[in-house]
Amino acid sequence: MKIGSVQLASPFVIAPMAGMTDTAFRRLVKRHGGCGLVVTEMVSSEGLVRGIDRTLEYAEYTEEERPVSIQIFGGDPEKMAAAAQIVEGMGADIVDVNMGCPVPKISKHNAGCSLMREPEHAASVINAMAKAVKIPVTVKMRAGWNDNARNAPELARRVQDAGAAAVTIHGRTAEQSYTGSADWDLVARVAEDLEIPVLGSGDCVEPEQIVEKLLRTPAPAHPRTSRGIAGVLVGRGVLRNPWILAQAADLAAGRPARQVTMAERGQFLLEYIELLQNERVHEEKGFRHVAPGASHPPRPTSHDLVRSHDRWVINKLRALMSWYSKGLDGGSQLRVRVNSANSLEQLRDVIEQFFSVESVGA
Ligand SMILES: Cc1cc2nc3c(=O)[nH]c(=O)nc-3n(C[C@H](O)[C@H](O)[C@H](O)COP(=O)(O)O)c2cc1C
Repeated sequence: MKIGSVQLASPFVIAPMAGMTDTAFRRLVKRHGGCGLVVTEMVSSEGLVRGIDRTLEYAEYTEEERPVSIQIFGGDPEKMAAAAQIVEGMGADIVDVNMGCPVPKISKHNAGCSLMREPEHAASVINAMAKAVKIPVTVKMRAGWNDNARNAPELARRVQDAGAAAVTIHGRTAEQSYTGSADWDLVARVAEDLEIPVLGSGDCVEPEQIVEKLLRTPAPAHPRTSRGIAGVLVGRGVLRNPWILAQAADLAAGRPARQVTMAERGQFLLEYIELLQNERVHEEKGFRHVAPGASHPPRPTSHDLVRSHDRWVINKLRALMSWYSKGLDGGSQLRVRVNSANSLEQLRDVIEQFFSVESVGA
């Protein structure tokens, strides 16, 4: 599948997830295979333009994650175009626009899913961005704002005409948030109607569901073209099972999905801790793609900084564990133990015991 001139080796994509899909997590998922594209957590266009360190950090990525899409949010066409230029300057392959976030903090600023309520304005944002950069501009939207306004089909066409190179639809409305189920028939209909690739997102927690969604066709009454759903973004399913994209790729290739042992699951967590712990430490020049001119927070060397960095790693693990432990025998006890671990040493011990795995060296 191709988005503009960017070739994806697989149609399976890690969905953007704020607070979760940081560069370390994306690297680990990518290493397990099956992943054709990674998308960063959403990044504020305002923060990018103003050069705010925390914002710039969210957009950072490493070479092994390529192709990389940086997702930005905002509602001002000029600022979004300027932010797209910063993203292009960072060397990203794609810039994606968040038109799906239902959280009031974002949507009340005329950004995220509230852009779906003003299709003309949304198109002007895409138009300004597409004129400002050479890399493909893509859009991630929902089915609509609410059940009375399921306007993804019209908006998708508008943003295509404004210069978008691909569209992803999470088939729920903003009002639904995460309740109910994603409407994949809607995704399939839009895919038939548009000339650009249309990807879908929502409710894939088993590899079989990913493959089934990719092959989904619209209800028989809908006029058919040869275009189907071009790709599937997997969100919560990857947090539960980082091998899910590799397993979907196995199935799509006609092989049985690879089996993952408990020890491998434990190893993933230990590696994640290690990568997070070493973020920015001993990294070779050029390892990390940062915004031109970005200043960096100090490396964790002093005692206080090491402690606060450790605390950050512990909090990251707690956040991941709330998804990762779902469906595991004894998952709720594991969550309790991880939530009460107060040092990285304790955290590693809990993981080593639960998954019967040896640490690779702390
Ligand atoms: C914790 C979390 C954070 C999310 N953050 C973003 C985000 O930053 N940008 C975005 O476009 N979607 C975001 N989403 C939505 C996902 O990308 C995805 O579309 C949605 O979760 C449905 O797919 P799933 O059922 O595979 O999780 C987020 C979802 C979750 C669960």
